[in-house]
Amino acid sequence: MKPIILDVDTGIDDMMAIAYAAHSPEVKLIGVTTLFGNVTVEEATRNSLYVLELLGREDVPVYAGAEEPLSGNKDAYAKHVHGEDGLGGAMRDALPKGQAASLTAPQFMVEQARSMPGQLTIISVGPMTNLAKAIRSDPEFVRVVGQVIIMGGAVTVPGNVTPYAEANIHSDPEAAEFVFGSGLPIKLVGLDVTMKTLLPRTRLQEWRDQGSKLSHFLADATDFYIDAYETFSPGIGGCALHDPLAVGIVIDPTFCRTESLPVRVDTEGMHTVGRTYADRNALPNERPSIEVCLEVDADRFLAHFLSRVV
Ligand code: BDR
Ligand code: CA
Repeated sequence: MKPIILDVDTGIDDMMAIAYAAHSPEVKLIGVTTLFGNVTVEEATRNSLYVLELLGREDVPVYAGAEEPLSGNKDAYAKHVHGEDGLGGAMRDALPKGQAASLTAPQFMVEQARSMPGQLTIISVGPMTNLAKAIRSDPEFVRVVGQVIIMGGAVTVPGNVTPYAEANIHSDPEAAEFVFGSGLPIKLVGLDVTMKTLLPRTRLQEWRDQGSKLSHFLADATDFYIDAYETFSPGIGGCALHDPLAVGIVIDPTFCRTESLPVRVDTEGMHTVGRTYADRNALPNERPSIEVCLEVDADRFLAHFLSRVV
């Protein structure tokens, strides 16, 4: 059982990633860390606590983290994609019973990484601000973390917030540029692969037929998410499983083919802020390479996800 921390900005696909991880015996979810992104950090924390309670996993602690990017300029959330509450209205104004633990998200990451050198996997599916703060706070951190999976970026395909930038990177480009250059052992799960993992709306009836509170909650939230996808891409008929794929490749790394590449992020520029690109000319001592997912066995991953999530 691999110990994992999920770093989330919960969000509908973040919620699916939490459920997938909580139901997968190959991984041990030792904590959920939260930050701003799709919603505010307070909402991401509330949503994560609520989802864990729905899953019967109140034993998993939640740690709140960054409320804004490193630059301090937070101007927008993604409520048009994830709903006012971040979960497509599926919470129906319910509130979790529990509350966040006392450490901050970066403190928890550092504490856990140090307590099990080489063992811990961190799965980051929001902006990279918590990770950047953990690295800054402890010079040992990059050496003791086992593996970091990052959902973010679009190395070979267009972005989803601008023609160049993917949402998680665009929310904090400075943090992403810093983390990619830090020497952390990173596997990047970007739009290059996640846009190929479409969950069709036709599958939601299977969840409704199961009749549990969790299965209805998942179906309601996902319906909202697919409506948002339809607004941007009429006729698409489904939604991408961005954050679940980051969990999936920890469970089964053969879901994706990767290539080792030095990756950089545009942190300024009139049109390209948040763009991720492979800098093939970078010298090895100038920029560490990271593993970039470029192909995905989408059918096999989707079948696995659906067999586990509810
Ligand atoms: C990423 O952005 C967020 O809206 C999703 O939760 C996912 O992490 C996809 O670009
Ligand atoms: Ca997310």
